[in-house]
Amino acid sequence: MDKAQEGKQAGKAQIGVTGLAVMGRNLARNLARNGYTVALHNRTTAKTKALVEEFGDEGDFVPAETAEEFVAALERPRRLVVMVKAGEPTDAVIEEFAPLLEPGDMIVDGGNAHFADTRRREAALRERGLHFVGAGVSGGEEGALNGPSIMPGGSAESYAALGPMFEKIAAQVDGTPCCVHVGPDGAGHFVKMVHNGIEYADMQLIAESYDLLRHAAGLDPAQIAEVFRTWNTGRLESYLIEITAEVLAHTDAATGEPFVDVVLDQAEQKGTGRWTVQTALDLGVPVGGIAEAVFARSVSGHADLREAAQGLPGPAPERVADAGFADKVEQALYASKIVAYAQGFHQIAAGSAEYGWDIDLGAMATIWRGGCIIRARFLNRIREAYEADPAMATLLTDEYFADALAGAQDAWREVTAVAARIGVPTPGFSSALAYYDSLRAKRLPAALVQGQRDFFGAHTYRRVDRDGSFHTLWGGDRSEVEA
Ligand code: 6PG
Repeated sequence: MDKAQEGKQAGKAQIGVTGLAVMGRNLARNLARNGYTVALHNRTTAKTKALVEEFGDEGDFVPAETAEEFVAALERPRRLVVMVKAGEPTDAVIEEFAPLLEPGDMIVDGGNAHFADTRRREAALRERGLHFVGAGVSGGEEGALNGPSIMPGGSAESYAALGPMFEKIAAQVDGTPCCVHVGPDGAGHFVKMVHNGIEYADMQLIAESYDLLRHAAGLDPAQIAEVFRTWNTGRLESYLIEITAEVLAHTDAATGEPFVDVVLDQAEQKGTGRWTVQTALDLGVPVGGIAEAVFARSVSGHADLREAAQGLPGPAPERVADAGFADKVEQALYASKIVAYAQGFHQIAAGSAEYGWDIDLGAMATIWRGGCIIRARFLNRIREAYEADPAMATLLTDEYFADALAGAQDAWREVTAVAARIGVPTPGFSSALAYYDSLRAKRLPAALVQGQRDFFGAHTYRRVDRDGSFHTLWGGDRSEVEA
C-alpha cells in the first residue's frame, strides 16, 4: 500500500496547502492529481471554494475554513505547505499555524523566500520541535501544476517524510525526478535564489543576441524567431530559447506590429536576482554575468537617465555583411552562458562551504534539467562535469566546457568587438568574456592596484618571490620594509 492509499484509509489528508493564489492552487492540484488527499486553506474562503468547485473532480480535497480545521484535517506528522508572498505574510502564517502544531510536524515554505529568513525561521521553529522546510519551487504556474523543479532544504528527517511526495509531483527527466534534498536549513532557498540569478543572466544574454541580430545583422523579429527556433534544435536547446522564439514571432493584435516593439523596454524584477548578487558580494564570489543582468534591468528602468542621454553621440548605424554572423552570435551566447552558469555554481559551492550545507553540485544540475525556468539540454553537461570531478574549481576547465569555449572564443571576441564598434550594448557578453580572460591571464593588473593601495594608504602587498607582507616608504626613500 503506498502513502496515498494509507492516508485515504485513515480518512485524513496527507498534506495541506495554505495560500491558494495561482501557485498554491496549482501545487495543490498537482498533489491531488498524483493521488494524495490534500487539505486546502486560504485566508479568504472564496479561493478554497472556487478550487473545489472548479477542480474538485481532479482528486481528493479537504477544504477547511479555519486554521484549526485545516490542522485537524492533516494526518500526523503534519505536512503543511505555505504558498504565500515572501516576507511578512510568511511570518504571519507561521505565527498563525505554529501554535496549533505538535512536535515533528512540518511547515514547508514554497515561496521565493530569502535564504537568511529561512535560516531564521528554521532555527526558531526547531526550538519549538517543528520542522521548517524552505523549498524552492521553479517552473511558474505551469510547472506547479504539471511538474516543477523542487529544491527543498530543511532537516533530513523532514525530507524523509516529504521527499517521496515532492519527487512524485516534480518534473521527471529520463525517469529521474527534478527534486532532491538540497541540504539543511536555508540551502533550498539559497539554491533557488542562485537559480533565479542564473535565469536573469541567461535571459540577458538571449536579449543581447536578439539585439545584435536585429541591429547588426538587420533581421526583423520574425526572422530572429526563426534563428532562435533553429538554435533550439542544437546545444542551446532550452525553455528560455523556446519561449524567446514564441515572443518574437508574436504580432500585436491592436497595431499589427511585432509584439516586442510595442512593449515598454523597461525590465522589472521581484528581487531574487538582486539577492543573488548581494549574497555573492558577501561571499566574495565574482558573478559579473549575473550582476550585469541585474544592472541591465536597472539601466533599462532609469527612464530619466536614458532620456537625458538621448543626444549623446554614437557610431553611425552599420550592418554586418557576414552571412555567418548569426552563427557567431550563437557561439558568443553559448560561451557566455557557460560563464554565467560557472559563476552561479561557484556561488552555490561558496554558500555551501560557508553554511556547512554540503550541497551536491551535480545533483543541482540534475534537478534543473526539467520543470524549472532554466531547464536545458546543457544541464546534462554540467551534471556530467561534476560527476567526473565533484571538487572541480570551475566548470570552465571541465573538458567539454573548455573545448566549447576554445571553439567559440574567436566568434565570441568578434561579436563583442562588433557590438562595441557599432554601439550595441552587450554587458553580458562582454563581462563574460572579461571573466574568461581574467581567469586565464597569467598576470592581472591587480598587482598595480596593490601598489596604489600601498602608496596612498600603506595597505601593504605580498611579493611573488618571498613570503610576508611588505610596504614601500613612498613618501621617504622608497625603500621596502616588512610590515
Ligand atoms: C521560477 C521563477 C520565478 C520568479 C519569476 C520572476 O523559477 O519559476 O524564477 O520564481 O518569481 O521568474 O522573477 P522576476 O520578477 O524577478 O524577473
